[in-house]
Amino acid sequence: MSPAHILVVDDNEKACEMLAYLLTRRDYQVTTNTRPIEALKWMRRPGNIPDLILLDIVMPAMDGYEFVRQLRADPTVAHVPVIMLTARGHADDKVAGFEAGADDYLVKPINAAELDLRIRALLARSRAAMPARPASEATVLTVFSLRGGVGTTSVAVNLAVALATLWNIQVPLVDLALKKGHCAWMLNLTPRYTISDLVESKESTVDSEIVENLLLTHGSGVKLLAAPMSPVDAELITPAVLDRTWPHLLTGYPFLVVDAGSDLSELTLIALERAHTVLLMLAPEMLAVKSAFDALQVFDRLGFNRDRIVPVLNTLFPRHGLTPQNVEKALGRPVGTVIPYERTSFVQAINSGRPLIITDPKAPASLAIATLAHKLSAAEMESEEIANPSQLLSMVQKLSQTS
Ligand SMILES: Nc1ncnc2c1ncn2[C@@H]1O[C@H](COP(=O)(O)OP(=O)(O)OP(=O)(O)O)[C@@H](O)[C@H]1O
Ligand SMILES: [Mg+2]
Repeated sequence: MSPAHILVVDDNEKACEMLAYLLTRRDYQVTTNTRPIEALKWMRRPGNIPDLILLDIVMPAMDGYEFVRQLRADPTVAHVPVIMLTARGHADDKVAGFEAGADDYLVKPINAAELDLRIRALLARSRAAMPARPASEATVLTVFSLRGGVGTTSVAVNLAVALATLWNIQVPLVDLALKKGHCAWMLNLTPRYTISDLVESKESTVDSEIVENLLLTHGSGVKLLAAPMSPVDAELITPAVLDRTWPHLLTGYPFLVVDAGSDLSELTLIALERAHTVLLMLAPEMLAVKSAFDALQVFDRLGFNRDRIVPVLNTLFPRHGLTPQNVEKALGRPVGTVIPYERTSFVQAINSGRPLIITDPKAPASLAIATLAHKLSAAEMESEEIANPSQLLSMVQKLSQTS
């Protein structure tokens, strides 16, 4: 078994260093963070969820009690066990800690052997209590642009259809471009239910069955969580509303595609933070490149790993666009995929409500999106037994052999 990963949250840098020293000597993998708010955000990113948290109580920006409260309210990390560490040994403090949701409590100065014992006991308890989790959670692919109008929805929809078609699987698509809600239109689905239907719920997460009933099923295998019917209702969709469905979407399927639109709202930031890959859309014109550059700077400031961001250059115009080389130079990093210009077929696809990848899978733009979908999913799906490889899969495989 890999070593348990422990997150230490303490505003005192020296205390963090001391605990990291004690714990690494006992073969734990340790991450420290002196800023609780940042630590909560960091934890929500893929691959960062720790096995256990050691938490100081008195911290300036957010105290340990509030930290645990927020942790327990977030379904993606609510299960992580917490040991509170404090200089205060009063019974009232302990009660407050347990009430907030801590699992154990240790008074400083810390004795290394006792700390190790408590950690082992708590890890054993939490492993035993953990519901059987699927071997892997969905790979989240978030499509985003700061510019708008550069093909974000076209790519999100066609990418979801491509994944479903390539592997004969169901792929949830979440429309978080809340004020536009174009995904349902592009798939010709009547939004009988939308994410708005979760606004009234009092639960922090809802049953899988309820989520399944809200998803609109497309013939390709895509299952859409549609945006609100009216842009006015977008304001009611808070992160808590999204989180009523998120755990189910994450554990029920191998991939989850999000159309994150072109706003940097709290909700899109969550979809970006939780993404394994962010497809950053841009067109070959200066304003789109500037917006993509600005987005990359924001991602840098938020501490996103650069490898997670794939710039996708969508050739929106037949002539006079910047070359991919010039775009790369201006961005300061390579473009992951170029989607060719389609004179009429994208517009026809929108007007007919039938995604391009279905109406014309051999169109250059379809092949570019299918190849991208394959690149993002092949490693995960290769281990699966594919009884009847889809035509799209054979086509993409042939293409990759010849290129
Ligand atoms: N490769 C392409 N070639 C030609 N036209 C394209 C291409 N990609 C997208 N389009 C067209 O660009 C327009 C905008 O596409 P889309 O709605 O997907 O963009 P968006 O970024 O989601 O826009 P919004 O900001 O409004 O949500 C559509 O009319 C679509 O047909
Ligand atoms: Mg859109």
